[in-house]
Amino acid sequence: FGQDAAQGEKVFAKCKACHVSDADQNKIGPSLKGLIGRTAGTHEGFKYSAAMMDAGKGGMVWDEATLTTYLHDPKGVVKGTKMAFAGLKEDKDVADVIAYLKQFSP
Ligand code: HEM
Repeated sequence: FGQDAAQGEKVFAKCKACHVSDADQNKIGPSLKGLIGRTAGTHEGFKYSAAMMDAGKGGMVWDEATLTTYLHDPKGVVKGTKMAFAGLKEDKDVADVIAYLKQFSP
């Protein structure tokens, strides 16, 4: 089972068109630097969907558990999200990309 950050960097190729992982820079999607432990929909300067901001107001914080469900099925977990990505099918890819993102979080 996953948790391989080097593999996760390869999985992150699927996210790169929209996200930066290692700098505080918003693109089509919000910066994912410092993601772990952050409340959903709260990165400064990014215009989120109402759905993502509501998820955060409802208490959703990005950790291993919430990211695992969201990355498998973004639109199922945050109904109305504007993230135009179908999700990752493989459990290992999800675990590896989370391990990769953890490197850029406190
Ligand atoms: C939001 C991760 C692929 C566009 C998010 C959030 C996470 C995430 C964790 C919530 C961030 C927050 O609350 O600050 C990922 C990962 C991806 C991926 C790990 C690849 C596996 C993509 C792609 C696109 C995209 C390919 C563009 C086609 C967005 C947008 C949002 C978002 C627009 C804001 C959603 C909203 O406000 O409803 N992403 N993403 N993401 N992502 Fe992605």
